[in-house]
Amino acid sequence: MTSTSAAPMRSPFFVALDVDDEKTALKIVEETEDLAGGFKIGPRLAYRYGQDFAKRLARHSALFVDCKFHDIPSTVKAALKSAFESGATFATVHASNGSHCLKELAKLEAEFNRERFFKILAVTVLTSFEENSVPQNWAPSKTIGEHVQILADEVCNAGLSGLVCAPTEVQALRANHRDAFLVTPGIRADKTQTKNSDDQKRTMSASEALTAGATALVVGRPILEAPKPREALAELIKSINGFKK
Ligand code: C5P
Repeated sequence: MTSTSAAPMRSPFFVALDVDDEKTALKIVEETEDLAGGFKIGPRLAYRYGQDFAKRLARHSALFVDCKFHDIPSTVKAALKSAFESGATFATVHASNGSHCLKELAKLEAEFNRERFFKILAVTVLTSFEENSVPQNWAPSKTIGEHVQILADEVCNAGLSGLVCAPTEVQALRANHRDAFLVTPGIRADKTQTKNSDDQKRTMSASEALTAGATALVVGRPILEAPKPREALAELIKSINGFKK
């Protein structure tokens, strides 16, 4: 699969390359590229190694740049252009950029898609938040699920269709946004897999998230910290076998 084709993904799993050096990242890519749907890099690798490294990854598989841009519209658009030019197929922004910015991004996404497939994914509420840990300035009368719905509506009304949410919100979002591309981190086999050091709070297993309506899943530590990352990803794929949308 090249960076210029996003669908069909080989599997619904994006492997989050949450490591500090390119050698380790490339080793994981080489070990798992025939099983993964794509690879995700965040600021940790993007700032360290920049566009050349991103281009290298994009030659292997669909590249997902997860730097969650949140800024004034011109800056967000310029950042997305740079991600697009690095060969990325997916890139994240915060859904809370506001409807003016989101509408501008929908136009930009359409422009990019005239050249090749590219999807902007708007992050609703981070999977590390729980009801009692959301920022103090958020309306206290609203649940996380309600915040996610409001943000998702704003994103889709602006003309975008890519959303990132916790697995626990997928079912409700899918009901309201049938055609959305729903990406879900916070994937854990079961509660015992969420170690104290893990910061994910609103989690589900891969098959539960897909059954709820997720399009693609992001998995980092359950693969990266496994004794054999390739086997961990193969197990995840096995766990969703027989899954039908
Ligand atoms: O290790 P784990 O599977 O928890 O990794 C999840 C990945 O998804 C991390 O790279 C994290 O930055 C990213 N992510 C997230 N929650 C969001 C958006 C992205 O956990 N809402």
